[in-house]
Amino acid sequence: MDIDGKYYKAYKKRLKMLEQQQSKEKVKKQHDKGKLTARERLDLLLDEGSFEEVDAFVVPDTLGIEFGKVEKYFGDGVIAGHGKINGRLVFTYAQDFTIMGGSLGIVHANKIAKIQEMALKMGAPIIALIDSGGARIQEGIASLSGYATIFNNIIRSSGIIPQIAVIMGPAAGGAVYSPALMDFVFMTSYTSYMFVTGPNVVKEVLNEDVSFEELGGAEVHAKKSGVAHFIYDDEENTILGLKKFLSYIPSNNVENPPTVEETGKTPDINNKLLDIVPDDPNKAYDVKEVINNIVDKGSFFEISELYAQSLVTGFARLDGRTIGIIANQPKVLAGVLDINSSVKGARFIRFCDAFNIPLLTFEDVPGFLPGIDQEHSGIIRHGAKLLYAYSEASVPKITIILRKSYGGAYIVMNSKNLGGDFNFAWPTAEIAVMGPEGAVAILYRKELAEAEDPDKLKAELVKKYRERIANPFVANEKGFIDEVIDPSQTRKKLKTAFKALTNKWVEIPSRKHGNIPL
Ligand code: HXC
Repeated sequence: MDIDGKYYKAYKKRLKMLEQQQSKEKVKKQHDKGKLTARERLDLLLDEGSFEEVDAFVVPDTLGIEFGKVEKYFGDGVIAGHGKINGRLVFTYAQDFTIMGGSLGIVHANKIAKIQEMALKMGAPIIALIDSGGARIQEGIASLSGYATIFNNIIRSSGIIPQIAVIMGPAAGGAVYSPALMDFVFMTSYTSYMFVTGPNVVKEVLNEDVSFEELGGAEVHAKKSGVAHFIYDDEENTILGLKKFLSYIPSNNVENPPTVEETGKTPDINNKLLDIVPDDPNKAYDVKEVINNIVDKGSFFEISELYAQSLVTGFARLDGRTIGIIANQPKVLAGVLDINSSVKGARFIRFCDAFNIPLLTFEDVPGFLPGIDQEHSGIIRHGAKLLYAYSEASVPKITIILRKSYGGAYIVMNSKNLGGDFNFAWPTAEIAVMGPEGAVAILYRKELAEAEDPDKLKAELVKKYRERIANPFVANEKGFIDEVIDPSQTRKKLKTAFKALTNKWVEIPSRKHGNIPL
C-alpha cells in the first residue's frame, strides 16, 4: 500500500481523531473527582501492551448528533476488547464517563454484548469497569432493550465464566442489575455509588434527605447491603485487589484454578494451633487466626469482609492450590448463623462449586440466631439456602469442627450426611442436638425445680452432659465424624485429604435445574 496515498492517510487520520477526541476539560473533571479515565483504568488493569480494542470507531445511534461531528463520539462511550492479566486472557469493557456520561445507548450496548459473547465462546473471564449515567435518555426504549440484552448475556454466562463488575462511578437505576447479576462486585470508596432510585427520588417519594454516599456508597454496600464484595480507597488499589482476586480462580467452569508455587512457610505440624481455641466454650477467639495458621502463608484472601461478619468467607491456598473457606467467627455474635451470614455463605459456596474450587469449612457455631426479627424476616427460607448450597456442591468438601456444633447448625455446616467428604473434629468439639445448658434445662426441669441447690445440680448435670454426649468422641464412635485429629496436625491432614479428593466425581441426575429457596 502507498503510505502517502489517500486511503492510508484516511486510515491514519481516523486513528488521530480517536486519539484526540477526549475533551481535556472532561478529563480534568474526572481527575478532579479522584477518578481515572477509562483508558487509564485499562492501562492499570491489563498487562502492558496486551490490550486489543474492538469497535473503537462505532458511533452512537443518538438522535441529534450533528452531521460530521460523529468523531466526538467514536466508541460510543465504552472501550471494549481483550487483553491479559498476569498472562491470562480476559475480556473487558470500560465505560467512558467523558463521553455522554458513559450512558448506555444501543450501539454501546451491542458493543458490550459482542464482548460478552466472545468471552463466553473463549471461556475467559469478563471484567466490566462501570462508570455510567445509566440508560441513555435520548435513545429511550432502545437503550433499555440494550440493557436487557446485556442482562440476558450475563445470565447465560453465569457459572461458565467468571463475571466481575468494578464500580468506579455512578451505577444507577436498573443499570445496577448488571453488576448484581455478576459473580463479584468491587467498589471504590467515595467515587462510586449504586442505587435503584437516587436521592432525588427518595426525597420526592419519602421526603427523606440522604446523600449519594449514604444511600449507595461503597461502604454502605460492603457493610449493610452486601452488594459489594470488595471495597478499596482508590481506583489503583481497587484494580490491584481485582488482579489478586483473579489469581485464585480458573478462567472457566471446565478448568481448575491456577496453582502457584507454594511459597508458604506454614509448618505442616503447627503447635500454635493448640493455643487459639479456648477450652471454655464461652470465650471468643478469632477464627482467622486458625485459618492463617493452616493455609499457605499470606494466602488467605477474604471476601465480603465487612458484611455478615459472624461468617468468614474467602479463598486461600493449600500447597499452592486454591480452596474456598467458610468459617464461623466466634468473635462476632459468637459465630451465630443469621439471615445475612446464611446468604453470604450460600452464594460463596455456589461460586466455588461452579468453578471447581474445593471447600473447607471451619465450624464453631452455637446455632441459628433466635428472635422475632429473624423469624419474621425469613431465617427459615434464607437458612435453607445455605443448606441447599452445601448439599448441592459436588466439589471436594471437608469440615473441621473446632468447637460448638449444635442442632440445625451442625447439619447445615457440611455435616457427613449432607455430603461432607471428610469430617474431622478437634478434641475441643462439642457436637449435640443442643448446648449443655439448654439440654439440661429441658431434660431435668422437674429435678432442678425440686433441688435444694439447683445451681450445683445444674453444674453437675452440664458436666455429665459434656462428658457423655456433647463431645467429638461419641460422634466419632458412630461414624458421624471420620476422625478426631490433633489440632497441630491439621494442615498435614488437610493436604492429604484434599489430595485424596482430587479426582472426586459425582454423578448428578439430569434435570433442568434445582429449585433453591430464593
Ligand atoms: C444521557 C447522560 C446521562 C444519561 C449523564 N449524561 N447521564 N446523557 N443519558 N442517562 C450526560 C450529561 O448530560 C452530561 O453531558 C454528562 O453525561 C455528564 O453528566 P453530569 O450530570 O454533568 O455529571 P455529574 O454531575 O457527575 O452527575 C452524574 C449523574 C447525573 C449523577 C450520573 O448525570 C445523572 O443523574 N444522570 C442521570 C442518571 C439516571 O437517572 N439515569 C437513568 C437511570 S435509569 P454533557 O454533554 O453536559 O457533558 C436506567 C434504566 C436502566 O438506567 C434500565 C435497565 C433495566
